Amino acid sequence: MKNENKHENSESGSGNKDVSLAARTLGTQGLKAGAIGLGTMGMTMAYGAGDETGGIATIRRAYELGVTLFDTAELYGMGTGSNEQLLGRAVKDFRDEVVIATKFGFDMSAAQNAGGYALNSRPDHIREVTENSLRHLGTDHIDVLYQHRVDPDVPIEDVAGTIGELIAEGKVRYLGLSEAGPDILRRAHAVHPVSVLQTEYSVFERAVEAEVLPVVRELGIGFVPYSPLGRGFLTGTVKPAAEYPADDMRSWDDRWQPGNYEQNLAAIRELTALADTKDISVTQLALAWLLAQGDDIVPIPGTRSPRRLAENVAAAAVTLTPEDLARVQEILPKGAAGSRYPEAIMPTW
Ligand SMILES: NC(=O)c1ccc[n+]([C@@H]2O[C@H](COP(=O)([O-])OP(=O)(O)OC[C@H]3O[C@@H](n4cnc5c(N)ncnc54)[C@H](OP(=O)(O)O)[C@@H]3O)[C@@H](O)[C@H]2O)c1
Repeated sequence: MKNENKHENSESGSGNKDVSLAARTLGTQGLKAGAIGLGTMGMTMAYGAGDETGGIATIRRAYELGVTLFDTAELYGMGTGSNEQLLGRAVKDFRDEVVIATKFGFDMSAAQNAGGYALNSRPDHIREVTENSLRHLGTDHIDVLYQHRVDPDVPIEDVAGTIGELIAEGKVRYLGLSEAGPDILRRAHAVHPVSVLQTEYSVFERAVEAEVLPVVRELGIGFVPYSPLGRGFLTGTVKPAAEYPADDMRSWDDRWQPGNYEQNLAAIRELTALADTKDISVTQLALAWLLAQGDDIVPIPGTRSPRRLAENVAAAAVTLTPEDLARVQEILPKGAAGSRYPEAIMPTW
């Protein structure tokens, strides 16, 4: 499909911070970040072979373009620390000017053995993973520490309390949760203020709109949409599931499977037609749509390419009219066809 890099920032930057991406305030606890962040997951997992050199170049280009929020996790290195190390190396010359967010919450030895997602948010484990993350990132503090998934075996009060202690010790600045529902958010927030919630949100994935976003706003929590490009579907570069290698999750992702794929592709074609009328790419339309959902939102698209990064960042300069937003709603009233995760790993709120 056509995917021109419209509205793209120049890549001939001298290395100076030549473009200023407007800062947004994420919630009421003081966390600020450039309006578009960068997710580093794909640099080591999920979408086929990682690319360390491309990843580091992309992170540095992001900084030049005004991106300040960088998102990693213990999980993205499968317990080896590789993703956090890559990010730490890339930002070492400007570490104090950026916001590093990482996540704990899995038992990586179990995950590696079973290929599954064993959870572990016990306080001693949170402390152990935090020390590992600090070492891998090469920093003395983590700006946002997220619980990656709610652990049904550990009261959220214990999790929030432990992160509150790490904040008091200066090792962490802000408490974040990922895929937490209204009840968990309220309970955690009562123990220590939650600064930011990270959950999947895009024109393809709308579940947070009903009950989660209202609570986030009531409590003054910032919102970081992950997979804002629908894991790459919202870029116009997709292929059917069978054409992805086995180490690319899109080979099994429900939204790529026959039936769903054709429906979702038809929606992308309509979104692309709308984007064409504005001389922007469908990727930029998807990101601009998220930014238009509230100024407490900072999406974190993932890419391994400085060129695609520049295209994504330029979406912050796009203004969508009420008519544009209504047209998106008409094309995708409820989001994509197909489930965002298989049942076994679907987060429940
Ligand atoms: N909290 C959680 O549970 C959770 C779960 C998933 C993800 N996340 C976070 O969210 C971040 C983003 O999510 P994601 O990576 O899953 O999905 P995404 O940002 O929706 O999509 C990433 C995919 O889009 C492609 N892409 C990006 N920009 C493009 C462009 N301009 N043109 C064409 N293709 C483009 C990337 O390919 P290239 O790399 O080849 O450019 C990659 O395959 C992750 O990196 C991670 O930090 C968090």
